[in-house]
Amino acid sequence: MEIRKVGVLGCGLMGSGIAQVAAQSGHPTTVLEVSKELLDAGLKRIDQFLSNGVSRGKVRPEEKQATLSRLAGTTDYAALADCDLVIEAVVENLPAKQEAFQRLERTLKPEAILASNTSSLSITEMSVATKRPQRFVGLHFFNPVPLMKLVEITRTIQTDPEVEETVLKFAKGLGKVPIRALDRTGFIVNRLLVPYILDAIRALEEGVGTIVDIDQGMKLGCGHPMGPFTLLDLVGIDTTYYIANIMFDEFRERRFAPPPLMKRMVLAGFHGRKTGKGFYDYASEPPKPNDFLTRS
Ligand code: CAA
Repeated sequence: MEIRKVGVLGCGLMGSGIAQVAAQSGHPTTVLEVSKELLDAGLKRIDQFLSNGVSRGKVRPEEKQATLSRLAGTTDYAALADCDLVIEAVVENLPAKQEAFQRLERTLKPEAILASNTSSLSITEMSVATKRPQRFVGLHFFNPVPLMKLVEITRTIQTDPEVEETVLKFAKGLGKVPIRALDRTGFIVNRLLVPYILDAIRALEEGVGTIVDIDQGMKLGCGHPMGPFTLLDLVGIDTTYYIANIMFDEFRERRFAPPPLMKRMVLAGFHGRKTGKGFYDYASEPPKPNDFLTRS
């Protein structure tokens, strides 16, 4: 099966990135949001990313125009009826995802493939809530989607091997490097990344080092492109908190348990870049580290 038309559920940070790369790679792409406001914000993010790419000389102006011309936004599930592949990137919450898939299936053609961009929920649990668990895979992109090369492809014990191969080919066509993972919470990357990130927060709570020094340590000492707190602010402290809780529920191991500071930051609305405040404060440039632990 050839994937031509792509649908994306959700036009947030991940959904907008996925819709952008699909349209940029030549696929007619329709992205769905629950409200016109959220849709407009997501489409604006795509426009800005492409414009930024043009300013950097990474995207040709005509490529930006062609990408936008292949991209449509909608709040109506019926607009996705003729998609060959629909990638779900809604909030990291099982009932919300299951409901989105069920609404989608009311109009979707039977042979279409369903994929979830979940980073921690069970692909099997989502797939069995649909009428096509054999045509269901995990397709996990990384943030920021247009720049990050990796995609994790997850099959369940029910996934048709031909579907997995089709999606693998599709991911390569987006210019991504796919790796295969089994349906285990966190797949490959988050299984290793989440305990590391949570340990960075524990080190901060214990006063081992400051936000800036821990970030510098991992950047310059291990060659990471960004330190754990800068990364947390990019991915979203709320998002990482949900992922950690799901992983803790699955494995019952302390290394996946979110530290107390993280929970309080989520409750207080310190979600990272998207709320202007996380481990760093983004009101000024360069962002300043938050001193909530050392303030007397
Ligand atoms: N359009 C096109 N190209 C762009 C661009 C744009 N809008 N913006 C930047 N670029 C290009 C730049 O020109 C540059 O290209 P070259 O390497 O050819 O020079 C490249 O992208 C990198 O951009 P910058 O130099 O501006 O920034 P950087 O070097 O600091 O890299 C980054 C930015 C790619 C985000 C890098 O910091 C990085 O890799 N960070 C780690 C991100 C990460 O770990 N993400 C995974 C998070 S976990 C996750 O997502 C999964 C989950 O489930 C939670």
